[in-house]
Amino acid sequence: MSYTLSEEQLMLKDTVRRLAKEKIAPGAAKRDEEGVFSHEMSDLLKENGLFAADFPETYGGAEMGFLSCCIIIEEIARVCASTSVIPLVHELGTMPISLAGNDEQKQRFFPDLAEGSKLIAFGLTEPGAGSDVGGIRTKAVRDGDSYVLDGRKCFITHGDVADVLTVTARTNPELPGNKGLGVFIVEKGTPGFSIGKKEDKMGIRASSTVELLFENCRVPAENLLAGEGKGFSIVMKTLDFTRPSVAAQALGIADGALDYAVQYAKEREQFGRPILQQQGLAFLLADMTIQVLAARELLYKTATLLEEVPRDLSRVSPEVIRYSSASKNFASDTAMKVTTEAVQVLGGYGYIKEYPVERMMRDAKITQIYEGTTQIQKLVLAGTL
Ligand code: CAA
Repeated sequence: MSYTLSEEQLMLKDTVRRLAKEKIAPGAAKRDEEGVFSHEMSDLLKENGLFAADFPETYGGAEMGFLSCCIIIEEIARVCASTSVIPLVHELGTMPISLAGNDEQKQRFFPDLAEGSKLIAFGLTEPGAGSDVGGIRTKAVRDGDSYVLDGRKCFITHGDVADVLTVTARTNPELPGNKGLGVFIVEKGTPGFSIGKKEDKMGIRASSTVELLFENCRVPAENLLAGEGKGFSIVMKTLDFTRPSVAAQALGIADGALDYAVQYAKEREQFGRPILQQQGLAFLLADMTIQVLAARELLYKTATLLEEVPRDLSRVSPEVIRYSSASKNFASDTAMKVTTEAVQVLGGYGYIKEYPVERMMRDAKITQIYEGTTQIQKLVLAGTL
């Protein structure tokens, strides 16, 4: 399987890199300090058509494929991880509809989502159901032509700014664990749906992370994706697709930190010469480079494999699941290692907020946690052996 970037993808990479440098990088430190979701950044992505990449042309998308979506996330994350969360969560929230939605549901939501005039979030995690998706307790009880949702979600990225959410709930309380789940499209403003606590986070601070509260929340039955009991398959296949987009974010963070550390090491002189010429630091930077190169190869290969996977509920091959988890696992560990070493290269300067590597190190951590922790990736991967 070849995974060389096409002319179109190289152009996209170049365009997004320029946009990121000129319009996203300058405010990154301020947004991190303020710790609020940036509508300005989301509008910028909209104006530049960056939400459309992975939507079908029939619904107003650019149909550039999953690898292009990863390229966009990677390039934005090089300068501002928080802003890269916007296309990342857009892909995550949309994927259940791509995989399990019918034509009417896609027609209703995709054009606005592809344009970026509406944002979407993914409502899965609950206080008692993080790594264990089968622990979901939010109920969805059928009542006439609606389902009534009751329960609480936590750690939902962009739950407060999203116009639409794909929410997993238990449609059949009789069935244990991962059986009896369903995924619903819930629109902002639906009576009974409200936002709870907003989290104050270590990193990706200009993205929002909130609780979702459902109290007697009536959702039209036509908003159920694929049918009762399909929830677990929808969620698992969604994550098979979208874990590599976290890898793209992690890769971008690592590459941004590496780039900064290399420039610094060329300019900073100690003992009468640039620190890049001190072997201890040269080896450190060489190791960081090897990890970034390897993470990129693994991600691009994974994204290329995923482009061949049908967007329906058919089973994903063990090989693709293995690549998906491996790329997320490897890139997120790379992001953590490389950003920590970048702080080391900058020494005292690396530890202060005036230099971006401190923020990058804080931002890197989440990539080892969300969309399945490092340990969950190993569990998923081991299951394919
Ligand atoms: N892809 C497709 N199917 C899968 C699968 C995968 N990756 N993993 C398991 N399955 C299938 C199994 O083959 C099995 O199918 P059959 O019943 O037909 O045999 C079925 O699903 C059940 O499998 P398990 O018994 O292994 O399921 P489990 O209940 O023990 O859990 C798990 C499996 C992999 C641990 C799963 O619960 C999991 O992925 N947990 C992590 C959840 C996660 O990533 N949460 C992140 C939250 S989202 C987020 O972070 C959003 C954000 O803020 C940005």
